[in-house]
Amino acid sequence: MAKQDTFPVLETERLVLRALRLSDAPDVQRLVGAREVAATTLTIPHPYTTSMAEEWIGSHDERRERGEALHWAITRKQDGALLGVIGLELTDKHRRGELGYWVGVPYWRQGYCTEAARAVVRYAFETLELARLVAVHFAGNEASGRVMRKLGMTQEGVLRKHVLKWGQRIDLVCYGLLREEWQG
Ligand SMILES: CC(C)(COP(=O)(O)OP(=O)(O)OC[C@H]1O[C@@H](n2cnc3c(N)ncnc32)[C@H](O)[C@@H]1OP(=O)(O)O)[C@@H](O)C(=O)NCCC(=O)NCCS
Repeated sequence: MAKQDTFPVLETERLVLRALRLSDAPDVQRLVGAREVAATTLTIPHPYTTSMAEEWIGSHDERRERGEALHWAITRKQDGALLGVIGLELTDKHRRGELGYWVGVPYWRQGYCTEAARAVVRYAFETLELARLVAVHFAGNEASGRVMRKLGMTQEGVLRKHVLKWGQRIDLVCYGLLREEWQG
């Protein structure tokens, strides 16, 4: 996969997707600390502290340099506000990436996730030259499923009762998108 030496800042009509900085930790804590955001994600602990955010942000440079993962802060062009985070977990051997994202509750339903994700999908296929993108969501997370379909992803299957979240077994809905299917 094409190696990037500097962090790939991505720009869309309303957003700038940039690297997370340690100074973002309080905003990340405030937004990701909301129960509504933790409830439909697999890896976000709840409650969530600022030091967890710092540790997580602190791991990004090394993971990016190793070609393992890329994380972007989704920020609003107009005022620089941090709206959420979007990321790609990369499997170089198979030229594959897994897309993940969250947006803070005050910013839901304004098209921000879809706008950010479109830019990341473009970057994944055009610059990283990935062959395939996947994404998964908890059954019942209509918003995330809608984002995946708006990206042109196809539902490929359901992993039944695949994860344990807060004491409940949950189905994971799996989506995929191949480079040759991507409409730009
Ligand atoms: C999933 C999430 C990132 C969507 O962010 P968002 O910025 O609100 O998404 P968008 O505004 O781009 O909306 C995309 C589509 O989903 C729809 N949508 C948004 N929230 C919805 C909801 N609660 N129920 C049904 N549809 C919803 C929007 O209407 C839009 O569809 P449309 O263009 O046809 O109207 C956000 O809800 C979130 O962070 N949830 C908690 C964390 C999470 O679940 N992350 C994903 C893990 S797989």
